[in-house]
Parts: sequence; C-alpha cells; structure tokens
Amino acid sequence: MPQGERPGRKNTARVNTAEGAWALWWRQVGPGIEAALDRMLPPSTEPPPSVHRAMRYSVFSGGKRIRPALAALGFSMGGGKGDGGYQLGAAIELIHTFSLIHDDLPCMDDDDFRRGRLSSHRKFGEAIAVLAGDALHVLAFDALAALPAPPERRLRVLREITRAVGTFGVIGGQVVDIESEGKQISPKRLLWMHERKTGALLRCSLTSGGILAGMRPAGIARLARFGSAFGLLFQIVDDLLDVLGSYRALGRRRGRDRVRGKATYPSILGLERTRQRLREAVEQSLAAIPADGGPGEILTDLIGVVVGRLPAEWLESSGARKAEERP
Ligand code: IPE
Ligand code: IPE
Ligand code: MG
Ligand code: MG
Ligand code: MG
Repeated sequence: MPQGERPGRKNTARVNTAEGAWALWWRQVGPGIEAALDRMLPPSTEPPPSVHRAMRYSVFSGGKRIRPALAALGFSMGGGKGDGGYQLGAAIELIHTFSLIHDDLPCMDDDDFRRGRLSSHRKFGEAIAVLAGDALHVLAFDALAALPAPPERRLRVLREITRAVGTFGVIGGQVVDIESEGKQISPKRLLWMHERKTGALLRCSLTSGGILAGMRPAGIARLARFGSAFGLLFQIVDDLLDVLGSYRALGRRRGRDRVRGKATYPSILGLERTRQRLREAVEQSLAAIPADGGPGEILTDLIGVVVGRLPAEWLESSGARKAEERP
C-alpha cells in the first residue's frame, strides 16, 4: 500500500496496489470486476434507497478484492473466456461483503469500524445492516444463476458456492467462532473453524472459477489444495494483525479479538507458536501452488502480499517473509 493511503479510501483495493504479479493481475481484471459489481447492485436511489445505499456503502469501501481476483484467476486457468469470471468474482465479493456486515454486528463481533470507516450498522442502524447483508447474499445467487455458462456447469458452480457458505462452510465456522468466545479451544478445533469461516470462501473462489471454465477434476483438486492452504494462511495473518497490525493495515484499532475473548491463533497458541504455524502455512501454500508460469507467479506474489501486511520487524525475525523473497 502506498505511503499515506487511508484504509477506507473509496474503491481502492489496498493489497492490490503494490507492484508485483498480483498487482498486475488486479490491473488486468480489476476494471471488469468493479464494473460487474456496479452492474449487479441497484442504484442508491432505487426504492427503498436506505438498503441500496447501505449495500453500495459496504461493497465500495476499499476491500482488497482478493476473492474476485482469485475467481477470475481460476476461470482464466481453466481456459475461460469472456466476462463470466468477473461476474462470478463479483457475486462472491457480494457474499463476502454480506458476511462482513453481519460479522461486525453487535450480536457478533460488535465492531464499530471496518476498512477505516463506520461499520454498516453504525452508519445505517442495525435493522438496515442486517437487511443489507441479507440482500447482498440473495443478490449474489441471482447473479450466479445468470452466469453465462451451460446450465449444468452453472448448477455445479452454485452448489460449490452454496456449500462453501452454509453451515458446512462460512456460517458453520462463524457459529463456532461465536460459541468459542472466552473459551480455550483445542488447536484442532481452531483449525476446523478457520478452514470454514475464512478458508471455504477463498478456496471456492478459485475452484468455482475453474468449474465455470470447464476445468477437469484434477485441475479443480489442485486449486482446492492451494485454496485450503492459503485460506489458513490468510486467517492466521488476520488473527496476527489484530495483535501486531497497524491501524492502516487493519482499518480499525487493534485488540478487538482480545476484548471479545476470541479464539485466535495468538490466543490459543501464543505468538511464538503462531509464528511457527505461519511459517508452515507459507511453506504449505507455496508447495500447493497449482500451476507454473504466470498463474503460479501471481499466487506466489499474493502469498507475499498477504504476509507482507504484518509488520516488517516481526516478519524479519520470523523468517515468514520467504514467499516474498522468491524470484
Ligand atoms: C476479512 O477479509 C475477513 C476475513 C475473512 C478474515 P479481507 O481481509 O479479505 O477483507 P477485505 O474485503 O479486504 O476488507
Ligand atoms: C471473519 O473473521 C470471517 C467472516 C466474516 C466469515 P473475523 O471476524 O476475524 O474478520 P475481521 O477481523 O472482523 O475482518
Ligand atoms: Mg468474526
Ligand atoms: Mg470480525
Ligand atoms: Mg479478524
């Protein structure tokens, strides 16, 4: 992220601004994804405007757009052509945004800020925030149902995403997250939770892209393997940022997980063992890179970009920067 950039700046994909293969990929697919999002969302003035304003507020508030860019990458790796990858990515970003609006609610993580701006319920009130989240969720499935692909392939994409979001995926993980507050859960349960609340949607961004493009099962399995490893890495970094991150990297003050008594990698394993776990997650993600050439470089760079959100001093003492040091 360039110096001086605010976390909440409108419609900026913060992680995507660094130079590198991931940034270049974003430059290639970002405009198509942003245009698809804009097309999918009703105008703010459309009745009832309160909910449409709230939907747009959260979708265009500086998210890193990692999931839609991964969906477009899976699509491209499968040989997909045309706008399908953008539409798929945009639909997944709507689901991600719904999950964040609900995640911030007082009955969930009770966060007043996201991406350096007021969270949806603080800006629009709790009822509209709940409804805006609901609306984004169903709008995503409306868009998925209209994907430009043969009906059978479209159905496979729908099932892949539905499973990743439901009680076997994001929602199941969120349930365990909430029910684990104030508890010392086992590392195994923590992994189970992270694989679902965060890993499932990241993984299915890649796999559904591949499915939409008609990729063969072996290719989809490779995408899934990388997606799982990367999903865990991503949430370990997210957990660490709450302890070590700057306001800019976090978009809100740190320490919220501790206040809520969240089960996180640092709270369950401590910082030193989390450092080791992060190193393993980086190694596992690098080992699972599903392709050589351009896509492999893009994913390798993404690992470095995500890990690079952590403070450099801490990283340098951990050796976790390895991904960034790769040629
Ligand atoms: C935040 O995801 C929620 C988690 C799953 C950890 P991101 O860090 O990808 O959120 P934005 O969209 O870029 O703000
Ligand atoms: C959120 O995890 C995961 C989902 C929204 C599904 P967190 O609660 O750790 O995400 P942040 O830290 O609020 O972004
Ligand atoms: Mg949460
Ligand atoms: Mg949260
Ligand atoms: Mg978090």
